[in-house]
Amino acid sequence: MDTFLAIASKRDERAYAETPIADELARRILDAGRLSGSARNAQRWEFVVVEGEARERLAATVYAPENVRGAALTVAIVGGAAPFDVGRCAQNMMLAAWNEGVVSCPNGLRDPEAAAGICGGEVRAVLSFGYPARPRDPSVRSAEEWSRRANRRPLDELTRRV
Ligand SMILES: Cc1cc2nc3c(=O)[nH]c(=O)nc-3n(C[C@H](O)[C@H](O)[C@H](O)COP(=O)(O)O)c2cc1C
Repeated sequence: MDTFLAIASKRDERAYAETPIADELARRILDAGRLSGSARNAQRWEFVVVEGEARERLAATVYAPENVRGAALTVAIVGGAAPFDVGRCAQNMMLAAWNEGVVSCPNGLRDPEAAAGICGGEVRAVLSFGYPARPRDPSVRSAEEWSRRANRRPLDELTRRV
């Protein structure tokens, strides 16, 4: 998929199909995280794939547990990376997933301490991934049209020159 089309058509989706994500695709999503730049290339992160009973417990630590319970893949970004770096890493994983038709959502933590206990370190982001419950096809409209329809503040309101 064209990069700008992927960016423009990506929405945070919370309802996932039961279809599993193949191991190679899960690996590619994680690799997109690994490839992210970070300040001084410090890479102060680990990617924790949370499954089974641990995932059930992690679900109870986020604001929207069903996002995690219904996900085909749940990844916690753990460690001491700067917020800017965590954001880059998370978005790389989510865009690499979307490129393959897998939707995703970041999940805010209601109980960071419990999440740290489950994941074995400070949890900086919890990402849920899965094939969409309601099929979504980015090619049905142009990137410009996706951009126009996005629920975002207008660019002219966000941009200024000094
Ligand atoms: C740091 C962060 C935390 C978020 N936490 C949650 C959350 O706890 N639950 C949820 O359903 N969505 C969560 N979201 C998703 C936002 O609601 C979403 O990015 C925003 O509404 C835009 O959605 P859209 O891309 O579908 O338009 C989070 C997003 C970010 C960046």
